[in-house]
Amino acid sequence: MKIAVIGLGHVGLPTALGFSELGWEVLGVDDDPHKSRQIAAGRMPFYEPGAEELLRRGLRSGRFRLAPDVAAATAEAEVVFVCVGTPQRDDGSADLSQVEGVARAIARSLNGGKLIVEKSTTPVRTAERIRQTIGRYRNGDHRFEVAVNPEFLREGSAVYDFFHPHRIVLGVESSWGRDLLLQVYRPLLDRLRAETTNTPGAAGSDPVEERVIVTSLQTAELIKHAANAFLATKISFINMVADLCEAAGADVTEVARALGLDPRIGPAFLQAGVGFGGYCLPKDLRALIRIGEELGADMALLRAVDAINRQRVGRLVRRLEQVLWVLRGKTVGILGLAFKPGTDDIREAPSLRVVEHLLQEGVALRLHDPQAVENFRRVVPEDPPRLVYCTSPYEAARGAHALVLLTEWPEYGDLDLASLAAVMEVPCLVDGRNVLDPAAARAAGFEYVGMGRP
Ligand code: UGA
Repeated sequence: MKIAVIGLGHVGLPTALGFSELGWEVLGVDDDPHKSRQIAAGRMPFYEPGAEELLRRGLRSGRFRLAPDVAAATAEAEVVFVCVGTPQRDDGSADLSQVEGVARAIARSLNGGKLIVEKSTTPVRTAERIRQTIGRYRNGDHRFEVAVNPEFLREGSAVYDFFHPHRIVLGVESSWGRDLLLQVYRPLLDRLRAETTNTPGAAGSDPVEERVIVTSLQTAELIKHAANAFLATKISFINMVADLCEAAGADVTEVARALGLDPRIGPAFLQAGVGFGGYCLPKDLRALIRIGEELGADMALLRAVDAINRQRVGRLVRRLEQVLWVLRGKTVGILGLAFKPGTDDIREAPSLRVVEHLLQEGVALRLHDPQAVENFRRVVPEDPPRLVYCTSPYEAARGAHALVLLTEWPEYGDLDLASLAAVMEVPCLVDGRNVLDPAAARAAGFEYVGMGRP
């Protein structure tokens, strides 16, 4: 069986490489010729730890190769994963034109029974539309079915996540679709079982098999959107608590630690700070609000989650203003541009809005990030002395009146704080992710300000 993966972005490429590593023959397609050439040459078009090794191995073994277009890939494959982008439109809804375009291209190149699997995050009922579109445009009456197999990969740990899924959701229309997808995932399930032989489940149960959830198409679509909306809700919840803590003189990091010890709440996604960014949480949240409203559901909770998140950058800038009093004419070093550590992705990163805000206020900026500088530079060009890119955190701190930490890269946790303070004009630190130890920062001479910490 051959697998096609259409769209080689942050979802498609790790997925394609994962499948090829599992032993399947995978054809990848992307409509960006530059990106396709790069991938074919064994170079990752974005930073994703561990992925380049899989790419080279896949290409060398011939199990992963590039197909010239959707038609060629569809003609060869039995299972076609659609992983194209679903960007946000001005009204917050998902722009599904790429999905629709791919559905039409697939329709024209059907040549036998095929399973078309929606993997991009799309609003509920998109799979029905894909089915309708392929039905309308197909040549002849070749059999096809649609399935939904949402991905839960996190950028920065996509390779690990592919091989260690918490769940595999299969939205299917028939036992044929289910069995085909189970066949695709069988090598992964076997691998997981081999890894977990020492941790058996309750008598008679197979903990690996229990990770597979077979549902209808609509349910699978909603599982994905609900998962991201819940994660976003946790973050906005703790950010709301952070504001309360700030006003009341309490410490949100201690509140979060205590909350997280309750297994019903759990410790993950309770890190207060400058808010969530990236290409998934903000966009998926808004798309879910839109589709929910269209379907007549009350989406007030998620609108509040979005509103709280949008206020985070303003709150951070106000914290900075409280420290510096007057912003105009000051120099600020920014540590971290990526929307989170482990990636060079800056889409919807809080850093973009912080930088825009501070430039408007007449602040000179010194920016550092271990991976994301090239991407950031494309959007915000260097403009010395108003805006300069730095090759180390110490350089970003040089002559600055304050440092603002926006991405919790592990290397920022290892900084020699005393050396950092020594090169600054005034050693002030606004920790937008609450990751540094306030006592250590103060001991090194810093005036330390967190978010939701006294
Ligand atoms: C998210 C989901 O976590 C994945 O499960 C999902 O597959 C993916 O979206 C997707 O839909 O493709 P990702 O966008 O890579 O993954 O990033 P997250 O790790 O979820 O972080 C999102 C944002 O939340 C980051 O800006 C991060 O800094 C922020 N965050 C996270 C917080 O502010 N506080 C936290 O406690 C956790």
